Amino acid sequence: MTRETWATRMGFILAAVGSAVGLGNIWRFPWVTAENGGSAFLLVYLAIVVLVGVPGILGEFVIGRRSGRNPVGALRELSGSRTWGLVGMLSVLTGVALLSFYSVVGGWILRYFVESLVALGTAGPAPYFADPGSYYDGIAFTTDAVLYHVAFLVLTALIVFAGIRRGIEIGTKVMMPAILLLLVGLAVWASQQPNAAAGYEFYLSFDLATLRANFFDVLGPAAGQALFTLSLGAGTMVTYASYIGDDRSLPFDATTIAVLNTFVGVLAGLVVFPLLFSVTGEAGSSGPGALFVSIAGAFARLPAGTLIATAFFGVVTLAALSSSISMLEIPVSFLVDEFEFSRPVAVGGVAGLVVVTGSVNALRPALFGFVAGPLVDSLLTIGLIVFLLFVGWVLGVDAVDEFRRGSGSLANTLSTPWLLAVGVAIPFFLVFTLLSSLGLGGIAASLIPVSSFWLTVVMTVVLTVGAFVGLRGSRSVV
Ligand code: TRP
Repeated sequence: MTRETWATRMGFILAAVGSAVGLGNIWRFPWVTAENGGSAFLLVYLAIVVLVGVPGILGEFVIGRRSGRNPVGALRELSGSRTWGLVGMLSVLTGVALLSFYSVVGGWILRYFVESLVALGTAGPAPYFADPGSYYDGIAFTTDAVLYHVAFLVLTALIVFAGIRRGIEIGTKVMMPAILLLLVGLAVWASQQPNAAAGYEFYLSFDLATLRANFFDVLGPAAGQALFTLSLGAGTMVTYASYIGDDRSLPFDATTIAVLNTFVGVLAGLVVFPLLFSVTGEAGSSGPGALFVSIAGAFARLPAGTLIATAFFGVVTLAALSSSISMLEIPVSFLVDEFEFSRPVAVGGVAGLVVVTGSVNALRPALFGFVAGPLVDSLLTIGLIVFLLFVGWVLGVDAVDEFRRGSGSLANTLSTPWLLAVGVAIPFFLVFTLLSSLGLGGIAASLIPVSSFWLTVVMTVVLTVGAFVGLRGSRSVV
């Protein structure tokens, strides 16, 4: 069977941007930022996007394009070892875990969209206008949430079922400009609301003292959020890059995705935080409801609020779908490629499983919080560590070769430092992050012997030399 490729040259980048831009930017980012104290979190998060995110996307791209396969097949083929294939199975598991909570949130968004649309049709106020806080509390973890979760999942399954080319590309073309326009408009309006200044203060006052005091606490969530929003660590970018040709510049594409995606997230914060402070007077207590309480509450006060609400939730539904399909695509392409399942059977099977796992999440707020937060953070971090170690220590020089294919001279110069970063520095950092978020801060701290200058120097030298020898020698190492 010949594999599908993207319908147009732009198809791949559109789909990858579509995957990255989603509820992670608009719903999860404000929630997690609020929970971790605001501006200190933002700074760490942005640094991780640049220093880990961009090289990380490139790592997944290299694996995907080199192998032309799903994550499991890719690791197995490229290494010639079944064990790596088993390691790749982690992606399949992560894909299912992701979709199990994402589709619950997608369901909430879908509901707000449907209700806004109905209100628009009947010319009445949307039901959540009067008291957005209690409205959200009343719908979030109920049997209704289960129904909307299933509806959202069915939409996702239909798109994935129809094959990868159609739908995604068009959807993203509409979604991106629309979402930027709406968010910019709302951000301007939000800036004029009472108490907006307190929101900016919370979100943007880069206060070094707070950052120092909270650094280790925000590290895990910040890394998790950075990976989540860039769709990294679950093999999505491996899978998407497996469909592209040698003429594309991977570094250019990776940078484009990261920039666009981060822009949308930061912008969403510029809408949510002023509004959150204007509606509730503070940031921290709304939890996963932050988006709904702030924006939905504010629409009530906007001229033509119902119309704008309908447009907003409609566009966010599109953004959510172009991301959820990329989650479902991971287990589906695995079943199709590795076990020759037909697409409909694979889609039906995985969706059937997620109907169940998602419903449990939709009814259990505590479980939902765990899956959507720490569990996903850790799975993605472990996933990315695995991919990057693979790039550095198994692919080695081949990764550099793949990196350079189709890219310009600046990117060529950066390819060797990049290999060092993905083979050594970034996995090291991610392990550190993971340990501190698992509450093993003591072990984590002992990895960095800051107290001993000479030990630090020796460790750096050993790691660097080891890296050069190992990475250059490529496959012989593993
Ligand atoms: N990045 C998407 C968002 O921000 C979510 C997403 C889609 C994702 N595919 C993924 C996250 C793969 C991690 C891994 O909404």
